[in-house]
Amino acid sequence: MGEFAGKAAMITGTSGIARATAAHLARAGAQVLACGIDKAANAALQAELPGIVVRESDISDPAAVQAAVAAAVGAFGGLDIIVNSAAIHPYGTVESTDPATWARTMAVNIGGIYLTAHFGVPELRRRGGGTIVNVASVQGHACQQGVAAYVATKGAIHALTRAMALDHASDGIRVNSVSPGSVRTPILEMAARKFDGEDADIEAVFRRFGAAHPIGRIAEPEEVAEMIAFLAGPRGSFCSGGDYLVDGGLIARLGVS
Ligand SMILES: NC(=O)c1ccc[n+]([C@@H]2O[C@H](COP(=O)([O-])OP(=O)(O)OC[C@H]3O[C@@H](n4cnc5c(N)ncnc54)[C@H](O)[C@@H]3O)[C@@H](O)[C@H]2O)c1
Repeated sequence: MGEFAGKAAMITGTSGIARATAAHLARAGAQVLACGIDKAANAALQAELPGIVVRESDISDPAAVQAAVAAAVGAFGGLDIIVNSAAIHPYGTVESTDPATWARTMAVNIGGIYLTAHFGVPELRRRGGGTIVNVASVQGHACQQGVAAYVATKGAIHALTRAMALDHASDGIRVNSVSPGSVRTPILEMAARKFDGEDADIEAVFRRFGAAHPIGRIAEPEEVAEMIAFLAGPRGSFCSGGDYLVDGGLIARLGVS
């Protein structure tokens, strides 16, 4: 019997950290529904984890999120855990980011968390409580240049996590966020190509990103999934309203030497 036996989880995103979290929770006994917008990633996850439910959903769409929550409840009989990992990562300053990109980033990265909670909290409450883990970023604490919309959503996740934790503590619902540094996932590959061009040597760029972290490397998605699982499960029983760094010391260092 795994740590999550009898628990039902809904995860947004179907690649990277979401993929590793789905595998971790399923291995530990949870029933898992993962929803993502990317058909290829959805199919790859379903092939890797045939025992979970993978659903194509745009988590910025209220009807799609409502349907995903209903599908999880229909398949598993209820819902105990929500992990919000889906996000997009556009680049730009406030000047170069067009209004549609700004609005889309807000709708996916922070709006999606609102929507899974809006439709999911009543289900968690029906089970007598539950947990929500939001994937934020070190970029909610400190940031690079040229990522205005993305970092605005990541700071908002920290604030929304606190609000949700306070509002739903009396429902027995714990809400936390994790803030990863650089993690080996498709979003980081996109960043590598953004910085070094389309034919970038991805591993070389990842080594460079890794050197910026005091630990000297980037993270594997499973290392973030460990923290998510800790917070989502009984081991995190006194954690609520917090943000947990999984950043290899990145934020601890001042860039002055
Ligand atoms: N990889 C990193 O270095 C890093 C660092 C800090 C924070 N993060 C955060 O980790 C989380 C997961 O990202 P990742 O690194 O696993 O990258 P990823 O690209 O593998 O994951 C993002 C997922 O979100 C899905 N998605 C995007 N828009 C969607 C939508 N509208 N509806 C449903 N699904 C949608 C994508 O299909 C993808 O599966 C994100 O919130 C990201 O901001 C990543």
